[in-house]
Amino acid sequence: MAQRQAVAPPHRLGFAATLRRDTWWVEPALVLAALTVFFGYLTVSAFLDNWAFEIGPYLSPVFEPKLHGVYSQWWFSPALLILWGPAGFRLTCYYYRLAYGRSVFMSPPACAVGDLPPRYYGETRFPFILQNVHRYFLYVALVFIPLLWIGAIRGFHDPDEGWGVGLGSFMLVINAALLSLYTFSCHSLRHLVGGGLDCFSCSLYNRTRHRIWSWVSRLNANHRLYAWASLVFIVATDVYIRLVANGHITDPNTWSRF
Ligand code: FES
Repeated sequence: MAQRQAVAPPHRLGFAATLRRDTWWVEPALVLAALTVFFGYLTVSAFLDNWAFEIGPYLSPVFEPKLHGVYSQWWFSPALLILWGPAGFRLTCYYYRLAYGRSVFMSPPACAVGDLPPRYYGETRFPFILQNVHRYFLYVALVFIPLLWIGAIRGFHDPDEGWGVGLGSFMLVINAALLSLYTFSCHSLRHLVGGGLDCFSCSLYNRTRHRIWSWVSRLNANHRLYAWASLVFIVATDVYIRLVANGHITDPNTWSRF
């Protein structure tokens, strides 16, 4: 009788060892490139407060909300007062954990592929145990949603010329919508609204929570898509407003002063 040979699991065979024959490395390579470009840009942008980031009704979402009074006295980029919340929310996001766990720490780089030592031990050890604070960053992120929508509505109102509309107005609306979808599709929010219940139909309160949980679950199915779309669009919006504010391009709009 033929002897079946034992095959060691990939992580025992060494980094990138695998029986897979597909191009498994393409996805982690693309994710690594995208994370570097988009998070790298946002980090640089937060420090570029000397390069104009607002004009007329437009304020870059990287600097939203505008902390009036603090901006003129703050000796460092005011974005740093704000960004710790959204940055912490993304860094601890369940999807981004998977993305950078595979593409940056290569632990493992893909399913059934040998990982880079030290091995991944989940969120049980420092520093990854800090990722468990994600639910608290969710509370912070939920505060930002109405603030972003206020900024988007303000994008239709020039302080000097009043109500109008421009391309930047639409970009701010799309940006707020994508960030809302990203936040409302969060796994922690899904648990917050529907978790800890033994019976969904036992009371009006439970049935209401079940309904909200169903909505969040539907959004949650596309959480990865919203994570990328909102990241790409906040960068695009920041770049666009800065190019307009610094006179490199002209925004098509109904106002006359810019
Ligand atoms: S799991 Fe991604 S934002 Fe909460």
